[in-house]
Amino acid sequence: MKTTQSEIVDRQKLILPTLGCGTWAWGNRLLWGYNENMDDELQAVFNLCVKNGVTLFDTADSYGTGKLNGRSETLLGQFSREYSGENKDNICIATKLAAYPWRLTRNSMVKACQSSAKRLGRNVDLVQMHWSTGNYAPWQEGILLDGLADIYDRGLVKGVGLSNFGPKSLKRVHKKFSSRGVPIATLQVQYSLLSTYPVTELGVKEVCDELGIKLIAYSPLGLGLLTGKYSDKSSLPKGLRGFLFGQLLPGIRPLLDCLKEVASSRNKTMSQVAINWCICKGTIPIPGAKNLKQAEDNIGAKGWQLSDGEIAELDNAAANSNKKMVQNIFQTR
Ligand SMILES: NC(=O)c1ccc[n+]([C@@H]2O[C@H](COP(=O)([O-])OP(=O)(O)OC[C@H]3O[C@@H](n4cnc5c(N)ncnc54)[C@H](OP(=O)(O)O)[C@@H]3O)[C@@H](O)[C@H]2O)c1
Repeated sequence: MKTTQSEIVDRQKLILPTLGCGTWAWGNRLLWGYNENMDDELQAVFNLCVKNGVTLFDTADSYGTGKLNGRSETLLGQFSREYSGENKDNICIATKLAAYPWRLTRNSMVKACQSSAKRLGRNVDLVQMHWSTGNYAPWQEGILLDGLADIYDRGLVKGVGLSNFGPKSLKRVHKKFSSRGVPIATLQVQYSLLSTYPVTELGVKEVCDELGIKLIAYSPLGLGLLTGKYSDKSSLPKGLRGFLFGQLLPGIRPLLDCLKEVASSRNKTMSQVAINWCICKGTIPIPGAKNLKQAEDNIGAKGWQLSDGEIAELDNAAANSNKKMVQNIFQTR
């Protein structure tokens, strides 16, 4: 399937599709159970996504630590270089640079972007500030943001984005960047039927629309909970996610039931409905996929639309759910 014209937002040659793919799990053993034997299948996931117009890949310089340092970027670089099929020119690798406490100069951001490009073996397309230090080290934030804008000024990337910034801080950064002539292409926040906080409660979507910034929705499947496969205690994943899901499940049953009902009436899967809901809300969801089956399923969230009535039903179930996904501690207001 070719990328259609309507999927393309041309912003400094940055091409953003309606659906992307998240790659936090590609190199993360602790939370996501990654091992190197998965690499061949992850390459097949990459190829399938690009062929079907899912050309945005979200990664970060903190995805893969220790021996697996930068693994997600390294894999994406290898996969994108080796890919030779349809939509190759539209591939958009979006990395996020961590606001590590030891990144204290603007040049440390430029260097970090160059290290990401080295791991990728190609340029970064979209560089994002992974999180704001506004909640705990506000004095560091201006320096790192200056560095982010320097990356754009030096022509190292096609676009610049932010992540985990709320509407007030977004407006502040927009003003700062505008004075340097640096456009903000994207904002990435947690957004799903289980987590509407910065979008609905803080109104960040309206601010993005006003400023011409595209909103990227991370964890659109609620870390896997909205797929419906973790529906009782015996099916929970190991570790931290299992613990979290165990806490959330009793309070979100009505939401999962509603999702299931809409899915079966549309002959779609719960994952497809959860992702399509994000698309209908005007965001670009980036669901993570660890294997071909998940990628195929998630790609099926494109090319159709929930009705207004179905969206209202889901909104209602989400609003009445008495448990929500935990918020990122770095999310600002
Ligand atoms: N900016 C930030 O601070 C930030 C924070 C978090 C994430 N992100 C980005 O957002 C991306 C997506 O979020 P996420 O990975 O946290 O969570 P998610 O997309 O809500 O869930 C992804 C997980 O759900 C399961 N899954 C996915 N598709 C499935 C399907 N069709 N059927 C069954 N299971 C499926 C897989 O894990 P299992 O098979 O193990 O269940 C997969 O790893 C990340 O990869 C990352 O790029 C950014």
